[in-house]
Amino acid sequence: MILDKFPDTDEFYKTYWGRKPFVVRGGVDPALFDGFIDGDMLAGLALEEDVKSRIVLTAPEGGKWVCEHGPFEEARFGALGEKNWSLLVQNVEQYHTDTAGLLRAFNFSPRWLLDDIMVSYSATGGSVGPHTDSYHVFLVQGMGRRSWTVGHIPAVNKDCIEGLDLKVLKSSVEGDSVEVSMGDIIYIPPHFAHEGVTLDTAMTFSVGFLGPKMSELFVEYGHYLEQLDTGNERYAGQGLDARSAGFAIAPQAQKTMRGGMMDALHADDFAVWMAAYFSASADSDSDGDGIDQREEPLSPSQVFARLQAGECLHRPEHVKLCITTSQAGAFTLAVYGAPVDTAAVPDTLIEWLNQNAVLSLSDIEALGDQSALMAGVTQLYNQSVLFFEHDGRTDCVT
Ligand code: SIN
Ligand code: CO
Repeated sequence: MILDKFPDTDEFYKTYWGRKPFVVRGGVDPALFDGFIDGDMLAGLALEEDVKSRIVLTAPEGGKWVCEHGPFEEARFGALGEKNWSLLVQNVEQYHTDTAGLLRAFNFSPRWLLDDIMVSYSATGGSVGPHTDSYHVFLVQGMGRRSWTVGHIPAVNKDCIEGLDLKVLKSSVEGDSVEVSMGDIIYIPPHFAHEGVTLDTAMTFSVGFLGPKMSELFVEYGHYLEQLDTGNERYAGQGLDARSAGFAIAPQAQKTMRGGMMDALHADDFAVWMAAYFSASADSDSDGDGIDQREEPLSPSQVFARLQAGECLHRPEHVKLCITTSQAGAFTLAVYGAPVDTAAVPDTLIEWLNQNAVLSLSDIEALGDQSALMAGVTQLYNQSVLFFEHDGRTDCVT
């Protein structure tokens, strides 16, 4: 279970993804944690109305687990004591965008499936109990030490203790135990039981990946179809015969309707919708927050001048984007739930965005037609997909 280093990307998908837990010691360079959220800031987030947060009190011997939901009053933290509690906050990468920098270590992962970074701050003895998640989760240890036990196989018995506002398995986790400290990563596939107990005050960054249910896909795609001029035709009872008289929907009619639904799913709009759907914020409505047009847009020559002066454009890790390719090979790039008009964005730039986070003038020169690229880069800057992060500095910091 303990690996010397991160598996390479092929090995990761072949051997581990969805199949097998592993631990990588020092999987994240401790220097990367500089500037990430700390305990006080996390508690500050948990005071906010829109932020999903929980405090979990570890069950005493023979006692009961307690789960309280935020937002919290500041005084609640003072009353928690020194031991046996955890504070957990979701979607931290959207509220504290420097923490999204952790995602730089996850370029091998399907970033489009990322649900959020949940951060826990826990006192000694803090735990959320033995449990399973529907998520794929990478538990990245920040400060402190924790002891984790992780099952070898997906949990067979998922019975939970009744009457709790928290899913805690009745049985303890049977598996390997490991102690982790700063920079260690544990990968846990969905439905593998796991339990972490804090040894010294600790912060854990849970990078979670969660796919939608088929029902969610149908519902959301249905909403999207409603807004289209074509592809949302009414079923008109075409081809019916005597077998459909009365109240029975004959197989032929079922076939026609299923075929209509399949046609809708095979339309090129499906790829456009999918990019929009997977780029929507986990904590926003299904339309996402959309594209954020800058109040002070730049022209291509202004962007060029800054690049020429040595600045770089950055794709911040918290910006939710998704790229799909239609059956005809056309790219859709969507940001925060909204497709970007890519008429002026060269395909090479979209491909670049998939793999990279920092763009210098020499990168642009290497990508092809410079004036087309400058138009595309400027559009993406003006739509807040790209940023000049190091204003006033002349180096390209990755
Ligand atoms: C925790 O940080 O205590 C919980 C993380 C998890 O089990 O998913
Ligand atoms: Co978990």
